[in-house]
Order: sequence, then C-alpha cells, then structure tokens
Amino acid sequence: MRALRVIVPPLAVLGATLFAAPAALAQDGPSGQAMVQTCYVCHGPDGRSAGPVPALMRGQKEFVVRQMLDFKADRRPATIMNRVAKGYSDEQIAAIADYLASLK
Ligand code: HEC
Repeated sequence: MRALRVIVPPLAVLGATLFAAPAALAQDGPSGQAMVQTCYVCHGPDGRSAGPVPALMRGQKEFVVRQMLDFKADRRPATIMNRVAKGYSDEQIAAIADYLASLK
C-alpha cells in the first residue's frame, strides 16, 4: 500500500498533462495556412490551378467563404466540394479564406 501511494501521484500528473495537451490544441485549432495545404492537392500550389479544377479566387475572402458555405449547405451543386466543405467549421473556413486572401 505504501508503494502504491508513491506511484499514484506521478501517474495523476502524467494523466493531466496528456489530457491538457489535446485540449489546448483544440482551442487554438490548426491555422488557415496549415488547413489550406489540403486544398492545394486539387487546386494547385497557392490555389493557382491551371487545370480543370478552378483556381481559388485569391484576394477575395468573401467569395471563398460564400462558396464554401454554399457547398457545405448543398446550396451549390458540386462533384466533390460539398463533401470537402462539410469537413470544416465556419470558423475554419474563415481562417482558410483569410489566408488565401493574404496571398499576393
Ligand atoms: C479532391 C479535390 C479538391 C479538394 C481537396 C478541394 N477542392 Fe475545392 N474544388 C474542387 C472541384 C472539383 C471544384 C469544382 C466544384 C465541384 O465539382 O466540386 C472545386 C471548387 C471550389 C471552389 C469554387 C471555385 C469557383 O471558382 O467557383 C472553392 C472556393 C473551393 N473549391 C475551395 C476549396 C478549399 C478552400 C479547399 C480546401 C479546404 C478545397 N477547395 C479543396 C476540388 C477540390
């Protein structure tokens, strides 16, 4: 019993540390710059696609936000973007659009 009392407090500290880290991450969330990397797979580096996938309208935050929200709500028909858009919260969409609009 004596040994147990010595072991338990360090485990409690370790547990608190392990649970605190993901909570802190969820609060801040990934940055727009980090999240937009997945968009570049189809939309080209910096969203500058020259292929069949439309280039992301750089410098127009409102355009990207509106399209993403329309895709998410199935207001705009799409082959893939309605599924992509559903993976992001409105705040994350705003962060992605902010970052795209900041590209020169
Ligand atoms: C799997 C490929 C793919 C990925 C990943 C992807 N897109 Fe798209 N995107 C498309 C396609 C294809 C279209 C054309 C609409 C459709 O058919 O879904 C499109 C259309 C768009 C449009 C409308 C552009 C216009 O000119 O009307 C926006 C805005 C957009 N995507 C933003 C994004 C953002 C932001 C991300 C990352 C979170 C992203 N896309 C990730 C394939 C992709």
